[in-house]
Amino acid sequence: MTEAELYTMYKGIYLLKEIHTPQTLKYFEEFSFRPDDIIIAAYPKSGTTWSQEIVPLIVNGGDPTCLQSPNWDRAPWLEDLLTCSLNIEERPSPRMFATHLQYNMMPPSFFKVKPRVINVMRNPKDVFTSAIHYCEKASYHVNPGPQTKFLHKFLDGKVAYGSWFDHVKSWLNAEDKEHIMHISYEEMIMDLKDSVSRMAQFLEIPLDNEVIEKIADRCLFKNMKTNSSNFSLVPPKITDMSKSEFMRKGIAGDWKNQLTVAEAEYFDAVYKDQMNDIKHKFVWD
Ligand code: A3P
Repeated sequence: MTEAELYTMYKGIYLLKEIHTPQTLKYFEEFSFRPDDIIIAAYPKSGTTWSQEIVPLIVNGGDPTCLQSPNWDRAPWLEDLLTCSLNIEERPSPRMFATHLQYNMMPPSFFKVKPRVINVMRNPKDVFTSAIHYCEKASYHVNPGPQTKFLHKFLDGKVAYGSWFDHVKSWLNAEDKEHIMHISYEEMIMDLKDSVSRMAQFLEIPLDNEVIEKIADRCLFKNMKTNSSNFSLVPPKITDMSKSEFMRKGIAGDWKNQLTVAEAEYFDAVYKDQMNDIKHKFVWD
């Protein structure tokens, strides 16, 4: 199916028609935040699900009971259809959410209340690699088709959730920086314990070293893969995991197995051009 059939245009970016209905987007725009809400902001395929496991464990002092509900319930996407029916207004604080939207698209209440945000970023070549596999199996995404064609769409932001560059730059250039923590997938891969500890510090949740270690161990790729309350619950007609699993490889640098030399060079040239005004030092630079 085509973009016209599967996607809707929202503030200049493609969103998935099936899960971002006008009613859902209205709910998102009118959403009232609380100061102690916690938001995971990530471009898709950057470590959202991983953070939806880590943050609830931090908030619950390492108690794994919170992982019994699926990630879309324990830290729902604010802009998703399902979220309107979760009775979020009644949830006790701190509530946890995720979003794939850009900073400038957040609702008015976000800018007034300034809840805390953990912004997770990943090497865009690995985001692309993860996305091509995901779009092949998710019926609500346009099939990626030939790799080079999909690469151009990705770099031009003609994919669901828009341009990686616009997304990452929007959060990096956000005002009120003190309520936003930036972390990368690669830092989490390199030292998960340190990443968990930094997230807990940012959230001002004191945790013993032993609890931090337990959370980091539980959230290792091999251990998280066995938590069946995540994407394994999605029906095959929506996401066909027989093509490849949601928890696919969980490594940094898989783009080297996916991109041709010419594709990687083109990617680097676009990256250099798009990111030239960004001072942030990325682990992958
Ligand atoms: P791969 O397809 O490269 O394996 P998101 O949740 O933002 O959509 O991101 C999905 C990506 O994060 C997938 O990448 C998935 O395997 C990876 N991922 C999920 N949990 C992880 C973990 N505990 N450790 C490392 N990678 C993880």
